[in-house]
Amino acid sequence: MTKADSLQKLPKHIAVVMDGNGRWAKKRHLPRSMGHKAGTKAVRKLIENVVALQIPVLTLFAFGTENWQRPTDEVEDLMDLFFTHLEKEVALFQEHNIQVRIIGDLTLFSETLRDCILRTQSLTATHTGLVLVIAASYSGRWDITQAAQQLAQDVQEGLLTTKQIDAAKFSTKLCLPDLPDADLFIRTSGERRISNFMLWQLAYTELYFTDILWPDFDKKELDAALEFFNSRQRRFGKV
Ligand code: FPP
Repeated sequence: MTKADSLQKLPKHIAVVMDGNGRWAKKRHLPRSMGHKAGTKAVRKLIENVVALQIPVLTLFAFGTENWQRPTDEVEDLMDLFFTHLEKEVALFQEHNIQVRIIGDLTLFSETLRDCILRTQSLTATHTGLVLVIAASYSGRWDITQAAQQLAQDVQEGLLTTKQIDAAKFSTKLCLPDLPDADLFIRTSGERRISNFMLWQLAYTELYFTDILWPDFDKKELDAALEFFNSRQRRFGKV
């Protein structure tokens, strides 16, 4: 039995900002792309560990809206990695009954990558195990904005009145309407920011920050985050 197996409460939804790939590579005098490649290995390990713990939802922040402003070479490297990762991991998704969902502004991706995303999503749509959400070309503000646009459209078409818009109605238009909000947020690499990730869904989330760089995030680190979560008393604004 591992440490995490003995914990009383486990989160239902973990959201992760996988930060520090570049610094990991720099420390080893390697190109940044090698840091991202090492980062995908940590992604695989995390997925396997989360599946073993039967945690229902895992959301990974793979590429933010702002990341499009990185040098073209790095953006291309990340896109290649993303594409290869999805293709390569289909076997893992099948083996563990993992349902994959990609959230973000998919219109900004190449047609090849968009096809690959849609293929992976439809191939795994009926899977009933872990829901693996990959946020790519995503930002919390983008999600809230696109939800507002949909609501405005509904009002314009007479399907809804402005008075009928409340928080519950609003969240039906966000990217993950059917999933529980994240209960544990993890960010690696020592930065203590949310950086425009899941702004709506993190309202009552426990925030865990670690100095570990993403490629070094292993089972021991996940256990530490889960122990932190287990020690928190969540009150959701009540006493
Ligand atoms: C942040 O590190 C990391 C990213 C912008 C990319 C994350 C991508 C991966 C872990 C690999 C692909 C993932 C999937 C799900 C296929 P950084 O480059 O900002 O590092 P730095 O702050 O040290 O420079």
